[in-house]
Amino acid sequence: MKTKNIVVFASGTGSNFKALHQAALKREIPARITALISDNPDAGALRYAREHGIREHIVSPTDYEDSTGYVQKLREILGSESPDLIVLAGYLKKIPNEIVDLYKRRIINIHPALLPKYGGKGWYGMRVHRAVIENGDQESGCTVHYVTRVYDEGPVIAQVKVPVRKDDTAETLAARVLKQEHLLYPKVVRFLLSHS
Ligand code: GAR
Repeated sequence: MKTKNIVVFASGTGSNFKALHQAALKREIPARITALISDNPDAGALRYAREHGIREHIVSPTDYEDSTGYVQKLREILGSESPDLIVLAGYLKKIPNEIVDLYKRRIINIHPALLPKYGGKGWYGMRVHRAVIENGDQESGCTVHYVTRVYDEGPVIAQVKVPVRKDDTAETLAARVLKQEHLLYPKVVRFLLSHS
C-alpha cells in the first residue's frame, strides 16, 4: 500500500501528535507525518517536530487582518503538503469553513469527552475534565470525529469510555482519558487510511 501523507495541527503539548508519529515510525499506521501546523510558537508539539525533522508551519489567524489571508496561507501550506488526512491533535483554533469544505471528510479531531457532551466552542482540555468532576458524572472518555463547519459536531468515528472515580481530580481524570486518546487516535487513523 502506498504510504500516505498526514498533516497534524496542534496548539499545545503535543502528546497525541507524538503518539501518532511513534505509531507511524513503527509502521502501525500506513502513513508519514509530513508536517505540523501550529498557531502557538511555544507549543511543545513544535519542539517535538523540530527534534524529529518534521516540517513545521507556524500560522495563526491573529497574524492576519481578516480571514482571507489566513485561509490563503493554509491553502498554500496544505496544497504543498498534499495530505491524505488532516489530524487535529489539541488544536484550539477553528478550522475555517473554506478549508473544511476543501478537505471534506479528510479532517478529524480528538476531543477529551464523550461527545455530544462537553462539546462546542470553549470546551477544551482541562475545562472539560473540571466540568465532568463538578457534575458528578460517572463516566467520561474521548471521541474522534470528522471536522465539519460546526465545532465538535461532525459525525463520530469512535469513542472510548473511562470510569470517573470518586477520588478523581480533573488532573487524574485528564491523565486517564489522555492515555486512551494515545491508543485510540492511531487506531482510528490506521483504520481510515486503510479504507480510503
Ligand atoms: C487532548 O486531551 C485533546 O483531546 C484536547 O487537548 C488535549 C491536547 O493534548 N483537545 C481538545 O480539547 C479539543 N477541543 P496534547 O497536546 O498532549 O495532545
